[in-house]
Amino acid sequence: MQHRSKIIKTLLTASSDALKRAIAPYSGFHVGAALLTDDGLVFTGCNIENPSLMMSICAEKVAIVKALSEGQKKIKAIMIQSADGNYCPPCGSCRQLIHEFAPEAEIYLASKKGIKKYSIKELLPDAFTKE
Ligand code: THU
Repeated sequence: MQHRSKIIKTLLTASSDALKRAIAPYSGFHVGAALLTDDGLVFTGCNIENPSLMMSICAEKVAIVKALSEGQKKIKAIMIQSADGNYCPPCGSCRQLIHEFAPEAEIYLASKKGIKKYSIKELLPDAFTKE
């Protein structure tokens, strides 16, 4: 397993690159996400908005779906950051997605103040599951 600080650095750079690709003309809120899988691969995502606003897709959702659709089974860490420099906590729907498909992931939120680390159990206690 890579050292945690190296993982953070890699995901920080990748999510920062990703947020430059955000398509967010309606909110003006640009978000980037990056994740690391057990295979050592990095997948990125940015938010992609639509004039039918409910169709907008979150950055972390894009990254997770990309990893899953490429056959990745285990997500080890996820980083999320927004261009405004404040912490961007994942929305409820993304928390549910993380709970289902990245239950053991370390979740990092980056801001200009620093990096916070969470588990999905902290962000979504008593989650609804198939059990
Ligand atoms: N957004 C994300 O991409 N990730 C989050 O964790 C929170 C919100 C996006 C969705 C929408 O395009 C914009 O931020 C404003 O809500």
